[in-house]
Amino acid sequence: MKAIILAGGKGTRLQPLTNWTNKHLLPVGSYPMICYGVAKLSEAGIKDIAIVTTRTALGDFAEVLGSGSDWGVSIVYRVQEEASGIADALELARPVISSRDKFVVLLGDNLFEQPLTPFAETFEQQEDGAMVLLKEVEDPRRYGVPRLDEETGRILHIDEKPDDPASSYCVTGLYFYHADVFEVIGQMSPSLRGEMEITDVNNYYAHAKRLRYGVIDKWWTDAGTFESLEEAALRLKGTLLQR
Ligand code: DAU
Repeated sequence: MKAIILAGGKGTRLQPLTNWTNKHLLPVGSYPMICYGVAKLSEAGIKDIAIVTTRTALGDFAEVLGSGSDWGVSIVYRVQEEASGIADALELARPVISSRDKFVVLLGDNLFEQPLTPFAETFEQQEDGAMVLLKEVEDPRRYGVPRLDEETGRILHIDEKPDDPASSYCVTGLYFYHADVFEVIGQMSPSLRGEMEITDVNNYYAHAKRLRYGVIDKWWTDAGTFESLEEAALRLKGTLLQR
């Protein structure tokens, strides 16, 4: 299975820090944030990785990760010229995915303690559609929040950052797709805020009853705010990543 790490965007919630550097290069414990995602994928045996990032950060990513050989993986890079949304960043990785591939997409600011292997194995058996990972959180309002059909193990709908969440789960930034996701993105339009939304992509599958989910129970964070970045730094302090 291949992987795409999305590491573009503006990192608005971490400004002014992100005025000078890309969010995913900020230090978390002993490493730049991006290294945790690469190591997590490598640990799951996922060795072919494409990283989508900004034009200005590209050289720094190459400096930190190079070809990926230090991490036991192979990395190629794609540039997103404007922060036009997560689904737009994903679209840029289309050339590295062939028509029968299954792959995983990781948002670069998402840090997982949970091993990913069992979920990748489950998705290998899934004939079509997509799969996302959920985590129960205290306040789901800053995330995508699923409405679940627990009997069938499917998601019915995802509300993006709802005021009144339908469940206590959030959709983490880890998505499994087949190559048909690029057809779905091709049919989409930007949202009212002008971005191609990953939640619209996932809702396409949800409404077609083709969106399955797995639940993680170990520590996870989206390190995209000062509070969660600090939490991640404390949690991962002293961690040595496997290379
Ligand atoms: O962390 C999980 C959440 O991530 C989900 O619950 C939400 O459903 C999902 O929309 C997303 O929400 P965020 O508001 O946290 O997304 P953010 O704009 O912070 O972008 C997440 C990652 O995607 C970030 O690491 C950079 C990358 N990205 C984002 C944009 C907007 C890009 O590569 N390009 C982009 O244009």
